[in-house]
Amino acid sequence: MRKRVEAVISARRQLSAGVEGKQATVLGIETSCDETAAAVVRLGANGAEILSDIVLSQVAAHAPYRGVVPEIAARAHVEGLDGAIRAAMHEAGLGFEDLDAVAATAGPGLIGGVMVGLVTAKAIALAHDKPLIAVNHLEGHALSPRLARPVTFPYLLLLVSGGHCQFIAVLGLGVYRRLGSTVDDALGEAYDKVAKLLDLGFPGGPAVEVRAKAGDPKRFDFPRPLRGRPGCDFSFAGLKTAVAREAAALGDLSDQDKADLCAGFQAAVLDVLSDRAERAMGAFDPLWGAQGRLVVAGGVAANQAVRARLEAVAAARGYDFIAPPPRYCTDNAAMIALAGAERILAGFRDNLDAPARARWPLDEAAAALRPTHKAGRKGAKA
Ligand code: KG4
Ligand code: ZN
Repeated sequence: MRKRVEAVISARRQLSAGVEGKQATVLGIETSCDETAAAVVRLGANGAEILSDIVLSQVAAHAPYRGVVPEIAARAHVEGLDGAIRAAMHEAGLGFEDLDAVAATAGPGLIGGVMVGLVTAKAIALAHDKPLIAVNHLEGHALSPRLARPVTFPYLLLLVSGGHCQFIAVLGLGVYRRLGSTVDDALGEAYDKVAKLLDLGFPGGPAVEVRAKAGDPKRFDFPRPLRGRPGCDFSFAGLKTAVAREAAALGDLSDQDKADLCAGFQAAVLDVLSDRAERAMGAFDPLWGAQGRLVVAGGVAANQAVRARLEAVAAARGYDFIAPPPRYCTDNAAMIALAGAERILAGFRDNLDAPARARWPLDEAAAALRPTHKAGRKGAKA
């Protein structure tokens, strides 16, 4: 496999050598869940420059339902996207004629929202005669650390968000190998469900992180699912159920009970993440020897405790640890614009009939081989 992968990477390098010295300025659009986002990114020899970055959060619209309601999200994207794009172009000080391409998330995600963003991008591309790039949202997350600094391929990616939980070997632009994934819930989904059952409000992940700081992580002995097992898959459904069981046994929960439950839950999460990350680095090592880099991306990567534990595990194995600034961990359009810029510079472009996709695995072959291993369902977020 290594030879084939190296051949692909070398072909990609030749492609990018052909455009050396070139730069691309791309408008990115993100509407796959509950953020309406537009950004302009310029990618050149010195890396990425974020010219504008607009994110309209829909938190207030979904909060009464304690989760994302797809129909409300799609409608809010329709209402907010034009203004977000106008603001992004204005802040960048550019007109559509200055763009080299228009990029939009084409999946995976809530299909109504994805269609709103993709159709808008197609309209701009058609009206201004610009190439369209239909971006996989997961590729946006996978490349997001390159927004802050030029992280070179290959690297080992832990993608942990509300809908996804997987280890991916990022071997080059568009060359991804899934090494492991969740067999039930995504990690962000588990955070959101714990927050929901403890009535901590929406969105749940940051609330659980804050409560955990005030709690005793040893009061409850929660399970560490799959710890010590071969491979680098995840399972979080049992852990979430164990938290629910303890909460039900306690009955009326004091603030301290809630803090202790959050601390116990997060302690179990950290132990699972370090065990699984060690395994994933073990699977990545034989391919790439000493030049290891562990990158964490996606909404849960905004969690300081998660970042600190992964940094320690990476250091113990001699890996560099890289995490995007928290703002670029959660959904944003800068990562979509960057993916679009990388793709246009490498010679890719999409047709105007590119489909919106509710499901779109990054590593299609791995997904077809093990269909029971999911990206993670959209849980409380959806
Ligand atoms: O990447 P993202 O914005 O959307 C998806 O593509 O899913 O990730 C959102 C997820 C939510 O489940 C949210 O609760 C979680 O990331 N999250 C966190 C934190 N901030 C966001 N989870 C734990 N700790 C946090 N600080
Ligand atoms: Zn995301």
